[in-house]
Amino acid sequence: MLVLAGGLSYERDVSLRSGRRVLDALLGAGFEAELRDADVTLLPTLTADPPDAAFIALHGSPGEDGSLQSVLDLAGVPYVGSTPHAARLAWDKPTAKTILREAGIPTPDWVTLPQTTFSELGAQSLLDHVVRRLGLPLMIKPAHGGSGLGVQRVTSADALPAAMVGAFAYAPTALMERFVPGIDVAVSVVDLGDGPQALPAVEIVPPDGNYDFAARYTAGITTWHCPARLPEKVLDEAARIAVATHTALGLRDLSRIDLIVGPDGDIQVLEANVAPGMTETSLLPMAVEAAGRKLGAVLERLVSAATA
Ligand code: DAL
Ligand code: MG
Repeated sequence: MLVLAGGLSYERDVSLRSGRRVLDALLGAGFEAELRDADVTLLPTLTADPPDAAFIALHGSPGEDGSLQSVLDLAGVPYVGSTPHAARLAWDKPTAKTILREAGIPTPDWVTLPQTTFSELGAQSLLDHVVRRLGLPLMIKPAHGGSGLGVQRVTSADALPAAMVGAFAYAPTALMERFVPGIDVAVSVVDLGDGPQALPAVEIVPPDGNYDFAARYTAGITTWHCPARLPEKVLDEAARIAVATHTALGLRDLSRIDLIVGPDGDIQVLEANVAPGMTETSLLPMAVEAAGRKLGAVLERLVSAATA
């Protein structure tokens, strides 16, 4: 089987780290697996020598937005993870938030702003309007992407234009989201044959409250607690909401749902990740271990189910 990693997204290096960890875990579980960079040489390989299965460890496009999944479908190669359609829905944060809201799953209020509108309508009046509607601080994010790239917390209206431009560097549309104070929690969901189940919640404590790229991937910066230091009732609710999110978006096999838990234990969903990080500092592997399982054994089950 092939572990697909790399690609050309901004998260290429993270993906290569995820891919190597997945490969080691699968080799340790007795699989014959090989790591392949998902570049143009992949296409002839898929037709000339199709693998029996693939694990997508790409982050960003084309592994997280459904494109690679479509190629694998065309080549008849089974893979672990969500279908092209579901991946596409989850990948676009405003689309995913709309689906969640319609499903009754709480997510912070937001405004979606395409770069063209931002340029044409005169940025200031538009941004003033959003600040009046959503208040400050605001989270400014590229509408798609990962690893915190292009994400900024903005506390004053003056800082908004630069933050918007920062988000547009990563996607043609930006998401302006109401900032919800609380604890960052990630709940991974896996389906090992009995339907989607939540793994123990991971509580994220970045040094200055900012879980940016460096805080995610440099060992020793962020502190994680798994299970999260939250009351049992809140943990149960986080698990329920994570599974409901996975289901509402039609996700398959595995995902990681990122949440904010407010001071009263109220939970809001920030996003769903269809290709969660698998690096040494990533959260899904941490949650697997906290559940008393081995990453290799979990991946083995997912790959076996994909090829069954
Ligand atoms: N996009 C990164 C890899 C994550 O969600 O874990
Ligand atoms: Mg993400």
